[in-house]
Amino acid sequence: MRILTGIQPSGKLHWGNYFGAMKSMFDLQNKGENFMFIANFHAMTTVRDGAALREATKEVALDYLACGLDPAKTVMYRQSDVPEVQELAWYLSCLTPMGLLERCHSYKDKMAHGFEATHGLFAYPVLMAADILIMNSDLVPVGKDQKQHLEVTRDLAQKFNNAYGEIFTLPDAYIPETVATIPGTDGQKMSKSYHNTIELFDPSVKKKVMSIVTDSQPMEAKKEPDGNSIYELYKLFATPDEVAEMAAAFRAGGYGYGTAKKALLAAYHRLFDPFKARRDELVKDPDMLEDILRDGARRARERAAVQMDKVRKAVGL
Ligand code: ADP
Ligand code: TRP
Repeated sequence: MRILTGIQPSGKLHWGNYFGAMKSMFDLQNKGENFMFIANFHAMTTVRDGAALREATKEVALDYLACGLDPAKTVMYRQSDVPEVQELAWYLSCLTPMGLLERCHSYKDKMAHGFEATHGLFAYPVLMAADILIMNSDLVPVGKDQKQHLEVTRDLAQKFNNAYGEIFTLPDAYIPETVATIPGTDGQKMSKSYHNTIELFDPSVKKKVMSIVTDSQPMEAKKEPDGNSIYELYKLFATPDEVAEMAAAFRAGGYGYGTAKKALLAAYHRLFDPFKARRDELVKDPDMLEDILRDGARRARERAAVQMDKVRKAVGL
């Protein structure tokens, strides 16, 4: 089985990215042939600062390595190091109905957030389909918001196969239900567009955890934990026994939100402090990071070449 995922280097990664996207990729690391790429072409739809893009690309690579990506098991590469994806995106573009892209939520959402309606933003799902299909991927771990893009990918693979013969596998999204939507500090979906994120290695993590919005029930009140952001976030970090203990404490009454926030902070540190220590080591050796990315690019291109050979023949080149 071939497993592939990508993430845009368009800002610092946050808890939503970790539990919604990164962790499922790490969990699948022993299950097949793995690819993870940093979608720097995609990030150009919103990032217009070259130096910032270059820096964010490295930061994402460091975050993945620090949190659990093993380069011996997963091929990690920069999207731009496999330029053939742009070529494949063109072939797919020629088969993509405008209406299919017009229906995409993420494009409409970006418009609603005031982004300029560029061709890049509009054609984004076609490039994403190329990323996936060029590796002939079977499984794509992503967050729930990417589900529609996977449907577009399957659609385009099918259209291509109908026109030119069975070349592409139809990939499946991998979206574990438990981590479908991670809440941010204000209770809505954690997202950098909503300014409610807690970053992976946030220097102000304590302040942000303490600022998570709660209702104003007094400490003595018996409280329902389900749907409460602190409890929902705690579930991601804590063991099942610890989660059951917090739920019981809320329901019994006499357990305040401040105490729950402290428990969440401690559980965060337990998981992330070792990642931080590893990251601090990795930062000291920029050559090693570059070597990993170059080696990843070489292996990814080798795989892409197999697919592109078939594709070029099929389309008549
Ligand atoms: P953001 O919303 O902060 O811009 P992205 O859209 O770049 O984040 O998301 C990158 C990946 O992380 C995607 O696979 C997405 O589904 C996942 N992800 C982001 N935020 C969340 C969240 N709050 N809950 C679950 N998954 C998330
Ligand atoms: N669209 C994805 C996101 O915003 C990033 C991405 C680009 C991707 N190409 C991909 C994810 C291919 C999985 C597979 O998070």
